Amino acid sequence: MAPQRILLGITGGIAAYKSAELVRLLKKAGHEVRVVMTRGAEAFVTPLTFQALSGEAVRTSLLDPEAELGMGHIELAKWADLIVVAPASADFIARLANGMADDLLTTVCCATESPIALAPAMNQAMWNNHRTRRNIGLLAEDPQIRLWGPDQGAQACGDTGPGRMLEPQVLFERIAGDRAGPLSGKRVVITAGPTREPIDPVRYISNHSSGKMGYALAAAARSAGAEVVLVSGPVALAAPIGVSVRPVVTAEDMLTEASRAVDSGCDIFIATAAVADYRPQACADDKIKKTSEDMTLALVRNPDTLATIAARTDAPFTVGFAAETADVERYARDKMQRKRLNMIVANDVSVPGLGFNSDCNAVTVFWRDGEQSIGPESKTGIASRLVALIAEQLS
Ligand code: PMT
Repeated sequence: MAPQRILLGITGGIAAYKSAELVRLLKKAGHEVRVVMTRGAEAFVTPLTFQALSGEAVRTSLLDPEAELGMGHIELAKWADLIVVAPASADFIARLANGMADDLLTTVCCATESPIALAPAMNQAMWNNHRTRRNIGLLAEDPQIRLWGPDQGAQACGDTGPGRMLEPQVLFERIAGDRAGPLSGKRVVITAGPTREPIDPVRYISNHSSGKMGYALAAAARSAGAEVVLVSGPVALAAPIGVSVRPVVTAEDMLTEASRAVDSGCDIFIATAAVADYRPQACADDKIKKTSEDMTLALVRNPDTLATIAARTDAPFTVGFAAETADVERYARDKMQRKRLNMIVANDVSVPGLGFNSDCNAVTVFWRDGEQSIGPESKTGIASRLVALIAEQLS
């Protein structure tokens, strides 16, 4: 990434301390960094920390007579190639969404023509609050705004859920991706989550996939500039901002929707879904009753979405996932060859706390003449790195 001028806005939240590491990473990569802090941010970290790391005076006040002699807020707005607000609090997001300019940071955001990236950080209930959702919805439609995160997981207040700021390393990679736009102009189709194969009107066969890996990849691909379609089995996750979600239930639905999405143009197809390999031969019309001690269910093979897409004459760059509990590399390489994939991402799902229905993962990616291990780390972090790797291999 060519050196650029990055204005880092810091608002009031405990994640503010992590932004010091972001400044360090950006400076190490040769960027110019200036920092603007809100009054709330100053309650968590001191301007002196950021002055020492950035090598620049930190601005905290809009009505600073000395700085405003040279129209400081307009100068800052024009100076920045990119504004990154990390952490972006619920209050800051509300003020930005409503076009307010009541402190230096909102005023600079109002005056700039450069992109503004927000890394939200707040308690999960605040993130899920309907007024925050409305403000985020407004910003998601604004072409000047990028929304990076938030991540899921344990929060400083003891809650668990969405609202953690993305890690500094991930933000650093998003900044690199945003400027270079490694997937801009590309259309990416991703499958995620489990499928449900009905046995009768109240029962089904399924698995433990939560969709977190696929949703994180969709958000990372979107941040890298791609148009993203997410074909999703039943999950309890909010649609990633800017991503078109096509909900499905069964493996057959997944093939139909994924094929339809690929028919409309697709450069990269990523299959993170945990698709049921078999479905009941027939779904009973009525609830099956307990009439005997044992019961036999006849199953038939489901269609393989990934193999079908990879076998097309107009096949996109195809990336499969392999969830294994033993002999991970051998099975993964075998799947890559059999399904004629460009890349396969293997995860050892026998490791507690990784893989299915967890916030973290560890993967090894294989392609024809290379391999790379990523993690253990958050699925968001893994998704960022995977997208960078896919973009590299694609080109
Ligand atoms: O959803 P999470 O809780 O975040 O968990 C993520 C995950 C563990 C589900 C994910 O990282 C993962 O490994 N997904 C693949 C799960 C799997 O078991 O794949 P598989 O070995 O059955 O299939 C190999 C590949 O073919 C996969 O890309 C799969 O999406 C695809 N496939 C398989 C069968 C089928 N009928 N259609 C398919 O497209």
